[in-house]
Amino acid sequence: MRILLLGSGGREHALAWKISQSPLCDALFIAPGNAGTASCGTNLNFAVTDFNSIKQCCINENIDLVVVGPEEPLVKGVTDFIISSPKLKNIDVIGPGKNGAQLEGSKAFAKAFMIRHNIPTASYREFTLENYQQGVQYLQEHELPIVLKADGLAAGKGVVICENHIEAIAEYELMLQRAKFGEAGKKVVVEQFLQGVEMSVFVLMDGKNYVILPEAKDYKRVEEGDKGPNTGGMGAISPVPFANEELMKKIDDKIIRPTVNGLQKEGLEYRGFIFFGLMISDGEPYMIEYNCRMGDPETEVVIPRLKNDLVELLKSAADQQLDKIKIETEARTACTIVAVSGGYPGEYVKGYEISGMGDVNPEDSILFHMGTVAKDGQIVTNGGRVFCITSFGRSVYDAAEISKEEMRKIFFDGMEFRSDIGYEFQ
Ligand code: AMP
Ligand code: GLY
Repeated sequence: MRILLLGSGGREHALAWKISQSPLCDALFIAPGNAGTASCGTNLNFAVTDFNSIKQCCINENIDLVVVGPEEPLVKGVTDFIISSPKLKNIDVIGPGKNGAQLEGSKAFAKAFMIRHNIPTASYREFTLENYQQGVQYLQEHELPIVLKADGLAAGKGVVICENHIEAIAEYELMLQRAKFGEAGKKVVVEQFLQGVEMSVFVLMDGKNYVILPEAKDYKRVEEGDKGPNTGGMGAISPVPFANEELMKKIDDKIIRPTVNGLQKEGLEYRGFIFFGLMISDGEPYMIEYNCRMGDPETEVVIPRLKNDLVELLKSAADQQLDKIKIETEARTACTIVAVSGGYPGEYVKGYEISGMGDVNPEDSILFHMGTVAKDGQIVTNGGRVFCITSFGRSVYDAAEISKEEMRKIFFDGMEFRSDIGYEFQ
């Protein structure tokens, strides 16, 4: 099979790493990829939203399967574009069409979907400029804290948690009247704050059947002790120690199955990954958000724990044969730690040389590139999140210790990482 993978992060390096191990993979192209994906296949220099280049590549390289990593091309309709192009109609795509991708592309759509299908979630209301004043009144009477969410994609920044009413109304005004998040914030979801612990569950769906992949927990705040601003994710662990069989069954019964059934009932064609962001409150799971893709850095612990052939799994999803697949997982714990550029998630400088990447001990660790690029024979930084190291151990503590030890072999100017990933389970 000839495969095109879209994306350029650690998620894509982990997917490319696993795909390239499959005997079913005859050729792998990654667009645009990073310095790490170049060792798993051929990087191609075009953007994930450049639909014409995607089409040309599919034709020129005789692609059989397109795997879409990030949400943006999905929300913009890349799957529909490929499927509806006469020259590309025999190509399989992993990733939902524009309709299904609304689960991530519109928070208001996702909330209404959850309510229609009785999926436990925080209560909410949605507001636009048209009912602006009602929103102000709603906020004034809302219990604290209050969660405000820009409806559309806002690069992970569209959620604001407000501790008092003045702050909430100011934020609401910024979003609706001053377009703080541009188009994405033209509609605002106001949501009840859920108390509890977060975890994420990943499903691969083929339109009617689904398989549950290993669960994970990510660490979003930039500073140790879960302080400071939110990032894309500073590390992740899998499995999640408190996710026992009873909880996983509740998640399947109350959240996953109703979602899959709901998608089918509403005629939303969905062949791809669904990422369930959950809050566990008093042992009960609540939906916080859907993503129409895998998580990053969660993929960097989920995929290494997956024993199945990933290409077989993806092909089965494309062929609606997932009912024949049994997921097999590595029993050991995986922990990944992300190295970021100084200043991230704010301003940071790119282009620093990275040394020591070849010194990571491959016995228990895997290095995944995130924001890196090869330049004049050197690997240099090219993003806020630069690389991560995933290690296996008998416990969260062991795995984290190994990742930290390996992390210290690598250096670039301004490099930072959290040394407390998985701290609450140590
Ligand atoms: P999201 O971008 O929807 O993943 O939200 C970012 C983060 O905001 C989540 O990971 C949670 O930590 C937090 N969050 C979102 N919605 C809620 C909620 N209703 N209650 C508590 N925390 C929330
Ligand atoms: N790590 C969170 C995400 O991928 O959305």
